[in-house]
This record gives sequence, structure tokens and C-alpha cells, in this order.
Amino acid sequence: MKIFLDTASLKDIREAAKLGVVDGITTNPSLLAKESGDPEEILVEICKTIDGPISAEVVATDAEGMVKEGRHLASLHPNIVVKTPCIPEGLKAAKILSGEGTRINMTLIFSATQALLSAKAGARYVSPFVGRLDDISTPGMELVADIIQIFDHYDFDCEVLAASLRHPMHVLEAARMGADIGTMPVAVFNALLKHPLTDSGLKKFLEDWEKAKAQMAAKAGR
Ligand code: E4P
Repeated sequence: MKIFLDTASLKDIREAAKLGVVDGITTNPSLLAKESGDPEEILVEICKTIDGPISAEVVATDAEGMVKEGRHLASLHPNIVVKTPCIPEGLKAAKILSGEGTRINMTLIFSATQALLSAKAGARYVSPFVGRLDDISTPGMELVADIIQIFDHYDFDCEVLAASLRHPMHVLEAARMGADIGTMPVAVFNALLKHPLTDSGLKKFLEDWEKAKAQMAAKAGR
């Protein structure tokens, strides 16, 4: 499963990129609004930091406006993927932009039928929002499973991007199901690697090694 970070924080992205396992970034207007600086400059810097798909979302709500914005966003850097909302106008815009070769990430997907229509409109990625469904007592991971099952029957050139992942169990379940991508906040990403037994195990190895070295040094000195 490819790992994307769901953030527009350059500081966090630069730090996480050092681990060498981040495949892409998803941003949205809320995430970009949290950062100081020009959003387009931030997007270009993100593209220079991570050589993978970087999602940038349109804010127009009519197809014509989305297409115009999408073309502009795509012109910023070859890594940019244009995010369009899963509404009728978003579908129309996706059809046009994908026809021109722009990669589309259809966002705000809350049903499998929305994902099906998005793939038919030429979206390169569909983003089911797991956490936001969980928030309203609807099992978000079941949506990811449904979309994977549907896509398995057909030849869509469309990847399932499990989004709105809120904790490591979401990531684990998405990977078990075979989601193509999981996008997550940096805190969730960091938690994926953390294990107290790894830390205590390493501490013990190093202590034993130091003890052995001290014993060898003592013997040599006798
Ligand atoms: C995905 O592309 C979205 O930006 C994101 O995953 C939304 O997550 P949230 O529901 O935690 O805001």
C-alpha cells in the first residue's frame, strides 16, 4: 500500500520524507488554510520535496470554474493531481480534465456508487472518507471494502485512496483490504512505526553490548 501524508505542513513533510517511505501527499483547502504563506508556493515546495502525486483541491463549485482552476493547478508542477469534489459538477469537470491528461482525485466520497461514477468519469484516484463516516456511526472501512470489491470486477485505471484515516488501525485495515493508498495525518504516520518493545529491546541490546565491551577491556587490561 502506498503511504500518503494528509497535510500541507512543509516542516512535517520534510521531516517525514527523510524516512523514505512517503509516496505522496494529499492537501485540501482546510489543511492549506492552516499554513502561513502563499498556497500555490506551498504546493510547489511540496512537489519539490516529495516526488509523487500531490493532491491540490479546486474550490470552484461549477464545472467550468473547476476546469479553469484544475488546469491552473496542474500547470504548477507535473506532480500535481487535481482534487474535485464528488458532486455532479465535479464529475463533469473530472471528465474534461482527465480527458486532457490531468490526473483527478475525486474527493469527499461517502458511497460506493459515487466511487463507481468517479472511475467512469476518468478519475485516477477515488478518496473514500473513512473517519468522517465513523463519526456518524457508519462503518467507514466497509465503504473501502465495497469499492475495492467493485473495482476488482473491472478495468478502471483508478486507485482506491483510503482517506480520513484517523488512527493506525484504520491504516492496518486499509492495508489488509488491499487499498492502493492510505492517506493519513503525520501523527498517525509516526504512530505506525512506534513500538515499546522495539525501544526496550534496542535499549537492552545496547546495554549488553556496552557491558561486554567493558568486560573485554577489563580482561585485556589484566
Ligand atoms: C483526504 O484527501 C482528506 O484531505 C482527508 O483525509 C480528510 O480527513 P479528515 O476527515 O480527518 O479531515
